[in-house]
Amino acid sequence: MLRQAALIGGIIVALPALAAAADGQGPTPSIFAPVSTPAFAIREIAFFVLGITGAIFVVVAALTLYTIVRYRRRPGDSASEPPQVYGSLQIELACTVVPFLIVIVLFLVTARYIWGIERHPQPPGAMEVTIVGNQWWWEIRYPKLGVVTANELHIPVSDPARPTPTFITLESADVIHSFWVPQLAGKMDVIPNKTNRVWVEPTKPGTYVGQCAEYCGLQHALMLLIVVVHPREEFDRWVAAQQAVASDDAAASRGRELFASLACISCHTVRGTPANGVFGPDLTHLMSRWTIGAGAARNTPENLRAWVDDPSTLKRGALMPAMKLSRPDLDSVTAYLVSLR
Ligand code: CUA
Repeated sequence: MLRQAALIGGIIVALPALAAAADGQGPTPSIFAPVSTPAFAIREIAFFVLGITGAIFVVVAALTLYTIVRYRRRPGDSASEPPQVYGSLQIELACTVVPFLIVIVLFLVTARYIWGIERHPQPPGAMEVTIVGNQWWWEIRYPKLGVVTANELHIPVSDPARPTPTFITLESADVIHSFWVPQLAGKMDVIPNKTNRVWVEPTKPGTYVGQCAEYCGLQHALMLLIVVVHPREEFDRWVAAQQAVASDDAAASRGRELFASLACISCHTVRGTPANGVFGPDLTHLMSRWTIGAGAARNTPENLRAWVDDPSTLKRGALMPAMKLSRPDLDSVTAYLVSLR
């Protein structure tokens, strides 16, 4: 119980810290702090809609206040109902045509923005990523680079000298999820048996936090996505490190043999070993990631050990079963996982 409380405490500490890493933008990723082309457009239209609706609010509130004050009941007023206005064509037209025109304007402007974003052609130099929503984590594949990772999307920054937008293909392995990184692009549903596309073009390196935005089951709230935008050379180094096969640390050989003999390998891939399961996240470079369980906890040896022992202590309902290992075996498997840098 104590250990559980400590772990949950750890999670609560970890998440704001991760979010705060979002480039000094504060703990809440905001659509009003965009760093990417489609997100700039979304902020523009958000301000436009806020401007119009704000003006409507001011006019309506001012008229209401004026009416309440000017025509309030005074001592000596007669108790009978004042004369009513029925069937005034002018008033009825004004109340119908003006809102109708406002809605038409909002509709046309919104449609133009959506069209502009969705019809944006993919340029030849674009990065291609496939993201698969799973209960409750994100698989991230770079088909042209031969890299597979989870929950942490790494992409290059797009600078004017070398525009590099990232085009993302969205698929789901189970239910409907929604891909949303507020500072980079709008929401896009992730639907089983349907392929959706979204693109981002970040202009500033940094770490941006996203979250599944469609209720998808028990741990919908712990389906965090972290996007790291790198300067180009740094991104190339990251890719090279991810392309390497898993490290073969002699000190972790007992854990490696154990891992290969357990059910682990039917769900997880560790490239360069017999482990080639695809149901759970690829673990080849597990320790290059900040969190485990898609933001459930910081990726530390202690949390990893607790996770392998029983994932539900960190993320209730996680589909990975408790491995029920003896303490020494648990230590060995953890040591092996920690060697997967
Ligand atoms: Cu996936 Cu909500």
